[in-house]
Amino acid sequence: MPSEKEFAGKAAIVTGGGAGIGLAVARRLAECGADVVIPDFNGPAAEAAAAQVRELGVRTLAFQADVADPARMDAVVKATVEAFGGVHILVNNAGITRDNLLLRMAPEQWDAVIRTNLTGVYVATHAVLWQMVKQRAGSIVSIASVIGLMGNPGQANYAASKGGVIAFTKSVAREVASRGIRVNAIAPGYIATAMTERVPEEARQAILKDIPIPRMGTPEDVAAAVRFLCSGEASYITGVCLRVDGGLAI
Ligand code: NAI
Repeated sequence: MPSEKEFAGKAAIVTGGGAGIGLAVARRLAECGADVVIPDFNGPAAEAAAAQVRELGVRTLAFQADVADPARMDAVVKATVEAFGGVHILVNNAGITRDNLLLRMAPEQWDAVIRTNLTGVYVATHAVLWQMVKQRAGSIVSIASVIGLMGNPGQANYAASKGGVIAFTKSVAREVASRGIRVNAIAPGYIATAMTERVPEEARQAILKDIPIPRMGTPEDVAAAVRFLCSGEASYITGVCLRVDGGLAI
């Protein structure tokens, strides 16, 4: 059995940790003893999340930050290393949707999604990687999506960004495995958060019919998989994309 405080003395950065899946991940890692850093575009949400996570008995830092801004993310990593002595876990979670059928998709909708969901993963991973190489240890988990595996009408931009994250994960996993760094992705299915609250009721019922385990997932379902992939139990696992989707993409 893993020890309850398996991440004690380790620092975790969870991008977009101010809400939804990111907040559940931040809480789960803190329950396992990690100090947690939350960069979120929504500064007040980052502050509130950090305050909530601190109540679990760990140290936290909050930043208003755009995950696709290299200077800002470099500053977040620098502050993390200064405060906690290193960065052991990065969870690339920040993500957005700007849905539209491709015939109607504006360049701004394409750019916004690729910038946050794909470029943001590059920027944050690049920002932590030298530190992890120096440590000869680290675990990076990116939250992709089953849409990156299956595609979805109205989400060509989102599917492209998440498919890109899965391919990025495999490449970087190959590059840094010999340095003691593991790089994995998670493909959640339909998870109950603010992002899916926007889906109309009729579409929601249609999606539920396609899920073999007949319920929506919870942020905690995803957080449990992140914890596992960051733990010693997963020390021989790198470059995978683990579906947490109730069987949706089987
Ligand atoms: P959410 O909308 O509830 O929370 C996303 C958080 O990311 C917010 O706090 C937001 O302020 C932050 N954020 C957005 N853009 C940012 C940026 N440029 N820089 C920093 N922070 C930013 O979303 P949710 O549902 O928790 O999603 C989290 C991740 O999981 C996303 O990458 C999403 O694509 C992915 N996902 C979600 C699924 C779902 O069903 N909810 C399914 C599959 C994947």
